[in-house]
Amino acid sequence: MTPLAEILRETIRAGGPMPFPSYMGMALYHSEHGYYARGPQRIGRAGDFYTSASVGAVFGELMGGQFCAVWEAMGKPASFSIVERGANDGAFARDALTWAASARPDFFAAVTYLIDEPLATVKAAQERTLESFGDRVRWGLAGPARGVFFANELLDAIPFRRVRFTSGGWKELSVAVEGDGFVWVETELLDGATKSRLEEIVKIHPDFPEGYETEIAPAVASEVRLAASAISEGVMFFVDYGHPASDYYHPARRTGTLRCYRGHTAHENPFEAPGETDITAHVEFSLAAAAAISSGCELLGFCDQGHFLTGAAAETLRRMDGKPASLAKAKWLRQFQTLTHPAHMGRSFHVLAASKGNVGGAVLSGFHYARAAPGGATEVLGL
Ligand SMILES: C[S@@+](CC[C@H](N)C(=O)[O-])C[C@H]1O[C@@H](n2cnc3c(N)ncnc32)[C@H](O)[C@@H]1O
Repeated sequence: MTPLAEILRETIRAGGPMPFPSYMGMALYHSEHGYYARGPQRIGRAGDFYTSASVGAVFGELMGGQFCAVWEAMGKPASFSIVERGANDGAFARDALTWAASARPDFFAAVTYLIDEPLATVKAAQERTLESFGDRVRWGLAGPARGVFFANELLDAIPFRRVRFTSGGWKELSVAVEGDGFVWVETELLDGATKSRLEEIVKIHPDFPEGYETEIAPAVASEVRLAASAISEGVMFFVDYGHPASDYYHPARRTGTLRCYRGHTAHENPFEAPGETDITAHVEFSLAAAAAISSGCELLGFCDQGHFLTGAAAETLRRMDGKPASLAKAKWLRQFQTLTHPAHMGRSFHVLAASKGNVGGAVLSGFHYARAAPGGATEVLGL
């Protein structure tokens, strides 16, 4: 039994069934034993799972190009912030800044990179990674900034609620102790935001089968609103795996999207080794986009990562075309393929971008190949 399992067991014994967001919050962020609080070495080859940022420098390079396009559309202000939350070991920041310094020194000269990091161990790792950038990188936010907000795989790590459709209506699944382990127990729905989201979801799909289980994450909406408050003018980017509401809550998806990762193996039991296992669920992008709009933002686009990065890379690919084969070119293309191929990270990951204030009609090359449904992103997201 992990040290955190012991703590969770005692807490539940004393207080009764624990709402799942509290269980997940402790499992991931407990100050001493939480999965993420123990340090950033969980991501990448030696860890439990890959993220786009851990695949290599190409992701930071291509997103950096999109940030630069926002800067240009805003009239190249002398001071431009890139705000990142969920920066892990700082690899994405390093890759985006390294690209800017060499490809667009005029943009680099304007940039301050701000990281919002609550975990001390993780911040220490970021400081090591980003040391060479000096005070170009800072920690903490000193009020709303002009520029971009960026988060990769932040929203999937925000504690969510788990619900089940029964003959008696929707029930919440909380965590109880049984023997040495934990079990799910049904309770009434525990918060108003979950109840109202379920009422909206039932309008999209009125025919859930009994026993249908899924996740609801009102805290994702709060996280998006917090991100919107971090910028006064600019663009927010959220990259994550997830779906619009109509797919997310499709009646055929009977067991939801809760997944756990340990040693590059996925399973669906969040009660196994809490503190040593990542717990996550896909992101409901319709909820995230609606929260952005209700925070005064305008939707710029939504599409899968494969199409987004292909649009973002078009210029680079054109320049590469016809250049002689080299190890560097092969490495770049290998990373690009991992990020964009539908069987790897290209289809399940999505990019949501929303603008705030006057961004000069920013048109991002990333959305060039986005599905051109009438109404675009708004229609795809069912908003
Ligand atoms: C799945 S990891 C992704 C890390 C990194 N962005 C990457 O792509 O490799 C999720 C990260 O979000 C962080 N996180 C979760 N909630 C946060 C919050 N409220 N503020 C800042 N970071 C948060 C976690 O500590 C963790 O580092």
